[in-house]
Amino acid sequence: MKREERLRHLLDVLLAEKPEYASVRVPGDVGEQSLLLRSLMNVREPRGVDGDFLRLQDEELSFQSKSKGIVMADAIAASPDDDRLCLWQGDIIGADCIVNAANSRMLGCFIPLHGCIDNAIHSAAGIQMRLECCALMRKLGREAHTAEVLSTRGYNLPARRVLHVTGPVVSAGGPTDRQRDDLRACYANCLEAAEAEGLQSIVLCCISTGVFRFPNAEAAAIAVDAVKTYFRRNGRSCIRKVVFNVFKDDDRFIYQKLLNYGLQRQTEEGQKPY
Ligand code: AR6
Repeated sequence: MKREERLRHLLDVLLAEKPEYASVRVPGDVGEQSLLLRSLMNVREPRGVDGDFLRLQDEELSFQSKSKGIVMADAIAASPDDDRLCLWQGDIIGADCIVNAANSRMLGCFIPLHGCIDNAIHSAAGIQMRLECCALMRKLGREAHTAEVLSTRGYNLPARRVLHVTGPVVSAGGPTDRQRDDLRACYANCLEAAEAEGLQSIVLCCISTGVFRFPNAEAAAIAVDAVKTYFRRNGRSCIRKVVFNVFKDDDRFIYQKLLNYGLQRQTEEGQKPY
């Protein structure tokens, strides 16, 4: 099936799910169709869908991921300080597991095309991820606590597992000591969860530094220290690679310093990887 037909079919299925979509006009342009598909996936409540839809959705997401090009954690140059640590700026990369900065509902971001990592991860994984999160949360029977980790499959992501964790929400005047401890616990708990599942490479994002407003420099210092402390305390860890995945330039500069990457490397070899 051609991409145009595939997108059309996926859109038709999702648009038929709600009467209020009856007036939505499907754009002619393939790029716009793919944005509409992502938006509909973002707002979709977790409920079952037929296998045909999932097969076509998986084909589409695999096509999108291949067109972007997948960088694998193992291919990223290590920090001069520790060959288990490295820095990457940009979108999702491939690894045994990826950490998602979620919220306490743990169902992914419902705002269409929102620029948070929760949205990026669920959109690239496919609607199955929200269904699995929902099933796990039903079992849990309450909202997730801050720093509590929920582990799911990666579905169409280049990752076996995704570790969803909710960081502290910082308000004006913060962060508090409790929030600093909570952020540290997010990283420590994700490393422990990866260890427990025998996952050898992990991609960490800048938890809480976006929508949840934790100051970037302090959050980065906590993240790096939490990882170093984890390795100091777990000499026999199976984790071989920890990627600090930054998105914004400000975070890149902060982590470059913390991980002791020379600035020369950046100018000689282009912007990424470091
Ligand atoms: N790849 C890598 N990093 C990204 C990407 C991406 N595609 N997109 C954003 N980031 P945020 P939070 C970075 O806001 O502060 C959501 O709505 C971003 O630049 O995603 O923990 C959830 O559902 C920042 O450095 O997470 C929660 O409600 C980092 O990811 C809430 O936001 C985290 O920013 C969680 O807020």
